Parts: sequence; C-alpha cells; structure tokens
Amino acid sequence: MSVETAIATTPAATSGLRIPGHLAVIMDGNGRWAQARGKVRTEGHVEGVKALRRLVDLSIRYGIKHLTVFSFSSENWRRPRDEVNFIFGLLHRFVASDLATLIQNNVRIRIIGSSKGLDEPLRRLIAEVQSKTANNTGLELIVAFNYGGKSELTEAVQSIAAEVAAGRLKPEDITEATVERALYTSGIPDPDMIIRTSGEQRVSNFLIWQGAYSELVFVEEHWPDFNEQVFLRALDEYSSRNRRFGGIESRSP
Ligand code: IPE
Ligand code: IPE
Ligand code: MG
Repeated sequence: MSVETAIATTPAATSGLRIPGHLAVIMDGNGRWAQARGKVRTEGHVEGVKALRRLVDLSIRYGIKHLTVFSFSSENWRRPRDEVNFIFGLLHRFVASDLATLIQNNVRIRIIGSSKGLDEPLRRLIAEVQSKTANNTGLELIVAFNYGGKSELTEAVQSIAAEVAAGRLKPEDITEATVERALYTSGIPDPDMIIRTSGEQRVSNFLIWQGAYSELVFVEEHWPDFNEQVFLRALDEYSSRNRRFGGIESRSP
C-alpha cells in the first residue's frame, strides 16, 4: 500500500525530521534489561509496559498515525509457562489501568494475531478494547499479540483457498490486493519504519509481508530504556534514508 509520511508539525518541526505515517516497533530486550540489574525477567516486562506508555505518548505528540507494537509472538509460547502467564496477566493489567486514558486520548486499538491458544477471558478483553475504541479517530495503536507473520500468511492462504474451493474466486484472479485483504492488517498501510531495540538485527517473524519495504532501524537500548532521545535518534536515522521501492530515483521518506 502507499507510503504515508509527513513533515513533523509538533516538537520536531524545526529540526526537519520526517515522521513515518506508520511506525512499527519490535519491543525487545526486557529480559536482558532485568538480568543486567539482578532482577527476574518478569520485572523487565513490567518496565517494558512503562516504555510502551512513553512510545504511545510520543507517537501522539509527533503525529504518527499508525503505531504497531510487537508484544507477544507465536514463537514466544516456547518460553517457560510462568513467563507466558505473566505476560498475559500484564496485558489484562495494562488494559485495566490504561484503557480509560487511551480512550480519552482518542486512541483506536486494533489487536492483530491468532486467537488460537488464547483463553476466553483474553478473547473477551481483546473484543472489549477494540469495540470501546472503535469510534476513536486519533492514533491507531495496533498490538501484535500471539502474532507471527508465517501463521498470518498461512491463515490468509487458507481463507483464499476456501474462496477458490467454493467457486467464488478464480486462482488467476488472486492479486496482491487479495492477499492483503486476507491479512490481519487488512486496510492498514504498510509500516514505513520498523524499530527493533536491544541490538538484535533480525525481524523474528514480524510483519514479513507488510515490512517488505519498511526502513529497518536497530537501536542498542533494551526496550525498558526506550525514551524520547532514542525515539528521536531513530527518526533522525529514518529521515536520512533514501527510499527507492525498486526504482532508481531516491525518495526521501
Ligand atoms: C521482549 O523482551 C518482550 C517479549 C518478547 C515478550 P524479551 O523478553 O525478548 O527480552 P530478551 O530479548 O530476552 O532480553
Ligand atoms: C520478538 O522478540 C518478539 C517480541 C518482541 C514480542 P523475541 O525475543 O521473541 O525474538 P528472538 O527470539 O530473539 O528472535
Ligand atoms: Mg527477546
């Protein structure tokens, strides 16, 4: 889908930073942040929620339209059961503590990921946050929870194949738009920039279709240390990139 960018009208206006229309973040390094301080990994996840609040506030202030955050991957089930349960509990606690403020701030929330493996209270919570914020018109906060790009594509292929089997779609009529409509992210523009914290330089199954032309920015800080300074450094890096989309003319973001 088309690229959406704007020149900052808020705090960065004078510095000429380019603001991505859609920012996606792989919030990595909670466990290492905690371990480096002699704490248990779960304390890193608690601090990570504070960093997420900072990111949402920054995104609103800097005029980002869509913010996607990777909060639990389909591969994170491989972790000890206690850690998985803690992360699920944290999502409940985050909604309980923050939903009213998010609504006040006109944030619309969409959860992307598989519902497989999620218990009934979690499914109800997801439905609730989406319906309570559905009419908001400000920042769209997309939470990738129990999300994996390969499983998303597999589910998309299954639904398209079902259409073909039912005789409603011819194989030769399948286009990139057909695939996009079948993804969890249907209707959301592709991310312009993906930030990953904690120094790891990989995508880890995040938005593998949608991120085909995203600018990747890797920062050394662990997720709980994410703040405005790190955010601005990443935006500065993004602003310096030339996006060519396969062409020869360079387009600044
Ligand atoms: C990111 O931090 C949060 C989740 C994946 C849920 P990690 O928990 O992956 O932290 P590290 O990478 O082990 O330090
Ligand atoms: C990616 O981080 C998933 C999230 C941030 C939610 P991981 O910590 O799971 O990724 P790997 O295992 O290092 O690739
Ligand atoms: Mg990690």
